[in-house]
Amino acid sequence: MNPLHRLVVRTLPLVPKSVVRTIASRYVAGETLDDALSTVRALNAEGCMATLDVLGEDITLLAETEPTVLAYQRSLAEIAARGVDSNISVKLSALGLKLDPAHCRREFARIVETARGLGIFVRIDMEDSSVTEETLRIFFEFREKYEKVGIVLQAYLRRSADDARRIAAIGGNVRVCKGIYVEPPAIAFQDREEIRASYTQLVEALLRSGSYVGIATHDPALVESCLAAVGRLGLEPKTYEFQMLLGVARTLRRRLTAGGQRLRVYVPYGEAWYAYSVRRLKENPSIAGHVVKGLFLPQGRADGP
Ligand code: FDA
Repeated sequence: MNPLHRLVVRTLPLVPKSVVRTIASRYVAGETLDDALSTVRALNAEGCMATLDVLGEDITLLAETEPTVLAYQRSLAEIAARGVDSNISVKLSALGLKLDPAHCRREFARIVETARGLGIFVRIDMEDSSVTEETLRIFFEFREKYEKVGIVLQAYLRRSADDARRIAAIGGNVRVCKGIYVEPPAIAFQDREEIRASYTQLVEALLRSGSYVGIATHDPALVESCLAAVGRLGLEPKTYEFQMLLGVARTLRRRLTAGGQRLRVYVPYGEAWYAYSVRRLKENPSIAGHVVKGLFLPQGRADGP
């Protein structure tokens, strides 16, 4: 980590909340569902699809799951009522996965029931390796009951090639990402090129199997290698989509949509924006540079989502 970024990460608790808010406003749609839906509308107008994420992962009390379930149910109802092009992404730790997996299943079932009633797709995000196995188990259980439930595989995990085969066997819908958590070398590739190679192999194997793939990356080299794989397989754009985070790599995003690619933007929102932003800043120290810029050059959201 660059020494300046290390310093910023260490001193993050001292950074005024207003500065973190300024930086976060690029990556988080806002605190309310209305904020999130305005962002989704703007993205739809730009030719992008969206996926809504209610912030609030890694809770410490089971009572905290109720507001999250209600927020997802309201999000689903409003997506349908307003006719916007969005699905939802759910972190199972926000539903108590790490505290009580049975409670988590019950809470997730409430969200899936609402989604099923409206015909909306639900993606289960993948979290750190302590919950990989249980997250996959829950995905397989729910996929049996509702076809529009999808999962995420992380290219840095050595196990992902095997998991991809299991998911391909049922024609599952998979988002492939590099993986954002810090994992040990015994279970995860550490080298950038190894992670890229694993990523491209996973995407190609899944596409070849007929699975629908969400290619979630802002890495131009991976975008190119995945487009090359799509070309080799002669696939139509409707069999896959690109995915990016709100506020990241907007030029690349616009280049892809202008070229006829389908692209979905991950739109986090909710009152837990501060904790989310601080965690993202710690996990991706390169963003710490934005903190420094934010301290000196406060900027709004003039250039859109
Ligand atoms: P890389 O890290 O090389 O980034 C390429 C470039 O993009 C960087 O140079 C930088 O400019 C920019 N960039 C990337 N991330 C940025 C950020 N957060 N802020 C600002 N700039 C950034 N992970 C996970 O473990 N489980 C999950 O469920 C998901 N879900 C998910 C959904 C979607 C739609 C996306 C795009 C990503 C995820 N991720 C995730 C995160 C993913 O694992 C990964 O950490 C990031 O996408 C960064 O990896 P890239 O492939 O973009 O490459």
